[in-house]
Amino acid sequence: MLKRMSARDHRQDDSKIAEEARRLQGARPAEVAAWALGRFGSRLAIASSFSIEDCVVIDMAMKAAPQDVRVFALDTGRLPDETYLTAERVRMKYGIEIAWYFPERPAVENLIRLKGLYSFRDSLDNRHECCGIRKVEPLGRALAGLEAWMTGLRNEQSVTRTDTPEVEIDRAHGGIVKVNPLVRWTMEEVRAYAKEHRVPIHPLHDRGYPSIGCAPCTRAIKPGEHPRAGRWWWEDPENKECGLHLPPADAGTG
Ligand code: ADX
Ligand code: SF4
Repeated sequence: MLKRMSARDHRQDDSKIAEEARRLQGARPAEVAAWALGRFGSRLAIASSFSIEDCVVIDMAMKAAPQDVRVFALDTGRLPDETYLTAERVRMKYGIEIAWYFPERPAVENLIRLKGLYSFRDSLDNRHECCGIRKVEPLGRALAGLEAWMTGLRNEQSVTRTDTPEVEIDRAHGGIVKVNPLVRWTMEEVRAYAKEHRVPIHPLHDRGYPSIGCAPCTRAIKPGEHPRAGRWWWEDPENKECGLHLPPADAGTG
């Protein structure tokens, strides 16, 4: 059983993490991923939606410390089939187990019984309600007991992510450490890495989807549109978070 850090342990550790976060600002993504695995081992898990970014992070982690790589994924019940196919390709290529988390059955059943299958289109509150049930609550369970998690977040993805650092303290999730090795990379750099290292690529990326989430809330973008324009396309850009990555995160780099 993993020992959960107490709040006191976290406080003692926070200044060291802040120091490491400063040192790793602007570091190469592979170095950041290797640092995270070296520092936390299997007390860290990678959150994967099987986007190209997440598959690249998994590849970097496998190259750094294959014995410690843990991957989890949130199955909202509304993912595109291509996501499952990519997950299977990743599972087979790297020989890893993927820990899938599902939403609580009664919460989903109630939601769709009361509001139907597309309530998220009706209002921002309804959309947050659906994301809360299908993504945020399962994320909380996936992170329980961990000391750190690693994501494929990038600064250029959204106005809400421009300041996301490589390493931060995630106050929204009990003060565990959040590691985002690819923050400074462009999509071109991510693609170049994926090509060079033969990383499985989610097929929707080649069909006009730079960003991929749930099927009914994601569509292809037109040339020149913002990369996240196809996510919740009926909402304003500043609303385009689902609660997995809530600003303000305490970067701990002050
Ligand atoms: S979202 O908040 O808008 O849905 P986005 O799709 O940009 O997030 O992905 C950002 C990061 O969140 C990914 O790199 C991944 O680490 C994590 N993530 C997103 N969706 C999932 C999912 N379904 N399962 C696990 N991790 C996810
Ligand atoms: Fe629900 Fe859409 Fe959020 Fe998926 S992205 S959890 S379908 S509102």
